Amino acid sequence: MKRTVEPKVLYFGTPVVLISSLNPDGSTNLAPMSSAWWLGYTAMLGMGTSAQTVKNLIERPEIVLNLVDPDMVAALDRIALLTGSEEMSDAKRARGYRYEPDKFAAGGLTREPSSNGPDGVAESPINLEGTIQAIHEIGGPDSHLCSLEMRVERVQVREDLLMSNDRYIDPLRWDPLIMKFTEYFAGGAPAYPSSLARGWQMPPMAVSNTMSSAASGS
Ligand SMILES: Cc1cc2nc3c(=O)[nH]c(=O)nc-3n(C[C@H](O)[C@H](O)[C@H](O)COP(=O)(O)O)c2cc1C
Repeated sequence: MKRTVEPKVLYFGTPVVLISSLNPDGSTNLAPMSSAWWLGYTAMLGMGTSAQTVKNLIERPEIVLNLVDPDMVAALDRIALLTGSEEMSDAKRARGYRYEPDKFAAGGLTREPSSNGPDGVAESPINLEGTIQAIHEIGGPDSHLCSLEMRVERVQVREDLLMSNDRYIDPLRWDPLIMKFTEYFAGGAPAYPSSLARGWQMPPMAVSNTMSSAASGS
């Protein structure tokens, strides 16, 4: 038996990515996102247009995608409800967001120079450097959503994730952090309590023992 419903979120599960983009003053903004997919050497990124990231990429198309593995989840969650934009919608403020110009420091993450401008994240095992080629409005004029088309120009991968001939990344060793309905998952299991889920008023999941101990570091 199935029911017709209107779920508040349709995030069925996609890898978490940290986007590096250049602020007007030349510093790097970091933004967690998970609406990303790849076709050949093109990455398609779904973002709300109020994000500082989108404002940056409209003006300065250089971008680094820092892929996130489960070891980074606590750092990622520390910056989950931050924005690099001083202006914020009431809806975003109500979800608990606040302005933070230095998300590397806020997350406890380390800058790593890239070849195209924005600082990458040293803790990320995989960094994709490239350029935004086009920005498309999606969902109609009132949605305030867009997709950004990125050409991937340089792929940096931690050596232990590579297969013998360097042309492939080992699927058994690369374990992406997944965001599913605003909750973090790794290896198919809940990975960490999600600040984003609280912002979206997701009902608590039934299994939270392992996650509580992950959050308290015990
Ligand atoms: C795990 C995770 C996934 C997210 N996925 C997206 C996404 O796919 N698209 C989006 O627009 N925002 C997403 N967000 C929210 C952005 O991170 C948020 O809007 C943030 O304020 C953007 O930062 P910026 O304003 O500094 O660019 C996600 C947040 C988290 C924590």
